[in-house]
Amino acid sequence: MQEQIDQYTGEINAFSPASAADLETFRIKFLGTKGIIKDLFDQFKSVGPEEKRTYGKVLNQFKQLAETKYAELKETFDSGLKPQDSELDLTLPGEGFEVGSRHPLSLTRMEIIDIFKRLGFVVAEGPEIEDDWHNFSALNFPEEHPARDMQDTFFIKKNNGKDDIALRTHTSSVQVRMMENGKPPFRAIMPGRVYRNEAISARAHCFFHQVEGLYIDENVSFADLKQTLYHFVQELYGEGTKVRFRPSYFPFTEPSAEMDISCTICGGSGCNMCKYTGWVEILGCGLVDPNVLENCNIDSKKYTGFAFGMGIERITNLKYVIRDLRLFSENDVRFLKQFQTEII
Ligand code: DAH
Repeated sequence: MQEQIDQYTGEINAFSPASAADLETFRIKFLGTKGIIKDLFDQFKSVGPEEKRTYGKVLNQFKQLAETKYAELKETFDSGLKPQDSELDLTLPGEGFEVGSRHPLSLTRMEIIDIFKRLGFVVAEGPEIEDDWHNFSALNFPEEHPARDMQDTFFIKKNNGKDDIALRTHTSSVQVRMMENGKPPFRAIMPGRVYRNEAISARAHCFFHQVEGLYIDENVSFADLKQTLYHFVQELYGEGTKVRFRPSYFPFTEPSAEMDISCTICGGSGCNMCKYTGWVEILGCGLVDPNVLENCNIDSKKYTGFAFGMGIERITNLKYVIRDLRLFSENDVRFLKQFQTEII
């Protein structure tokens, strides 16, 4: 009997079923009503009292071994795992996990910030819900002036007056906050989200992102503005990118200009990105209007300065040849994954 038990013990210990069916066969063989354990207990009935004492314990231990083995394996199968899975094999190759990617607009924003930081600009931010003063009046948009209609505004509270509250239409509002709250010189860039009441299409959206730039000090001239922006473009789009300035109008700058760069797609020879002109507009800029300085309690006789504002979407479109603005806010991973970058 001892021999039999030893042999079965070895068999049970080595048992490793490949399927639930194997386990069932095991159960029937050892624990079934006509199984080995039942048989051993039947044999046990007919042994002498001396052997009963010896084998009683051995037999019970053996039964317990079979039951425990069965219960453990059953639990593993019931949980959907294969028995092998539960054994930790440290030699197996690890399962890779997917690294996320930065949003293309974040990449562009970070790149812009990086370039201007090297020129000594600090980063500043302001609120997205703005009052009339910071978004319009301080920036020299006269009340009832048609210039206010240049930007379709989402009003939160509207009395046609000074206490209007709106979603900011541009980051130029942050200029005002910065100048009001500090003392010149100022050298800052101000990234942020802005809102306009526009129908959503491939070319327009009701929210987008801008970076505003402001440089106020004594003796700042248009030449400083041109050189700073020229350097920025060479850094961002590569050496040899051409720039040109066209006269324009903004209430808060005088003189004002729009800056074009040679088309980043065709290099200037003409393509449908630049509408076959060879040039694409990337930002508005100018010398800060003395009225704006005075509105912010800065002595416009002593200080001058320049400002500029650009759309991050536009800069990104030109960098990666993206033709539909809606892609930026749809969160389609097939789009976002194309900008796989190391998370830093
Ligand atoms: N705020 C203007 C816009 O949203 C962009 C702009 C133009 C900003 C000229 C400036 C500037 O600072 O000088 O259209």
